[in-house]
Amino acid sequence: MYFKESTGFPKDFLWGSASAAYQVEGAWAEDGKKPSVWDKFVRIPGKTFKATTGDKAVDHYHMYKEDVRLMGEMGLKTYRFSIAWSRIYPDGNGQVNEKGLQFYDDLINECLKYNIVPMVTVYHWDLPQALEDQYHGWEDRRIVDDFVNYATTLFKRYGDRVKHWIILNEQNVFTGHGWMLAKHPPGKFKDMKTYYQVNHHAFMAHAKSVLALKELYPDALVGSSFAYGPAYAVSDKPEDQMACVDYEDLKSYYWMDVYAYGRYPRSAMKYLESLGVAPHFEEGDAEILKEAASKVDFMGVNYYKTCSIEYNPLDGIDSLGGENNTGKKGTAEMEGVPGMYKVPANKNLPTTDWDWTIDPMGLRFACRKITSRYDLPIVISENGLGAFDKLEDGKIHDSYRIEYLRNHIEELKKACDDGCRILAYCTWSYTDLLSWLNGYQKRYGFVYVDRDEDENSGTLKRIPKDSYYWYKKVIETNGEEL
Ligand code: BG6
Repeated sequence: MYFKESTGFPKDFLWGSASAAYQVEGAWAEDGKKPSVWDKFVRIPGKTFKATTGDKAVDHYHMYKEDVRLMGEMGLKTYRFSIAWSRIYPDGNGQVNEKGLQFYDDLINECLKYNIVPMVTVYHWDLPQALEDQYHGWEDRRIVDDFVNYATTLFKRYGDRVKHWIILNEQNVFTGHGWMLAKHPPGKFKDMKTYYQVNHHAFMAHAKSVLALKELYPDALVGSSFAYGPAYAVSDKPEDQMACVDYEDLKSYYWMDVYAYGRYPRSAMKYLESLGVAPHFEEGDAEILKEAASKVDFMGVNYYKTCSIEYNPLDGIDSLGGENNTGKKGTAEMEGVPGMYKVPANKNLPTTDWDWTIDPMGLRFACRKITSRYDLPIVISENGLGAFDKLEDGKIHDSYRIEYLRNHIEELKKACDDGCRILAYCTWSYTDLLSWLNGYQKRYGFVYVDRDEDENSGTLKRIPKDSYYWYKKVIETNGEEL
């Protein structure tokens, strides 16, 4: 739609930035914390770029005061961070660890000191290894109760100060990478049946946590964050359009419909049943999903890229695709399901060095699609550019990141004009941090952290980049000066 005048961002808009515990904290075995599945997975040779780990990460655990001070000086309105389950319950269940709880108390209080709204992610992939050892983690239904117990502990402890809660981060990514692509723990390949069952457990954990939170704090705002890569059909051929509908049902609505409507898309479920991989429901699950969906306050969206969809004949490409984890352009491989769709590169769009399309309008597109389908408010919980940053005379001149963010924010503003209710925009990320599979060379932050790929080198000094000062202005002018 075209509007002569922009109404701009709402007055109380939350300009934010995000991180995740494993990617920033370090202190992997301190103050009672026990290993998470990631602490173990990164030690398997060949799993991460140059064998990088989050053992030390950017040492946010010890340097959080400095990090939050820089946020305060920037005028940041919200800081989205996750809590490490294995700091709170080192064994996943059982004994709670007071020192772990205390750390997040301190972090939350530090944010409040600078009027920064804490936005807490309950789960950003770092499952306690103990639960993997006890019953294979997400694969077992017992995870649901342990998750809700953990989440409820957080709600009770922090709910007086934390109003914004994201239950799960990118359920589609951690399950897809964990049980289909073998790229995340537990490293299983094409285990489709388990993949869909694991997802059902995660949906139940999400739903029951939403209900538990609303019972304790009816005014809290809650949702989960979905990694949404909107799809464009490559042509107006009906078969390409139909391929796109298939793709969206299986790759997007399969998650967002459950969060927003409390039910799976009918065609996707029919397809899974035909393959014999549909998830098993326990009695009452359908009702719980529905009830929780009616209480969800927003759709969390992590937006990085769009994709193109083309019909894929029965004798066409059969591949889960291959990610580029090197930073060498043009090394990603095409995904395709015979008889349905394939995902060719979009020639109309530039890409990052990791082959992610750069598509600012895709962000407006995502917001419009969600608004039409669900009519829910939206929290953009992640958006940003991963790049090689070079220190020059002690500074980082990241004009490419400013351009990326400016273009995305412009489109987000148009989404606001269109009537989408956008509550927050969190860039990924605040400081530089560990990219799960791409080490420390793929940087996203407003604040440069002096550390090398090597575990032990670098002073960890924080250096605000040009984008830091630019975003400060954006916040000051509520998105008017870009
Ligand atoms: C999202 C995750 O998938 O994208 C983040 O929620 C992640 O944890 C971010 O770091 C960027 O991905 P990558 O692979 O570039 O680090």
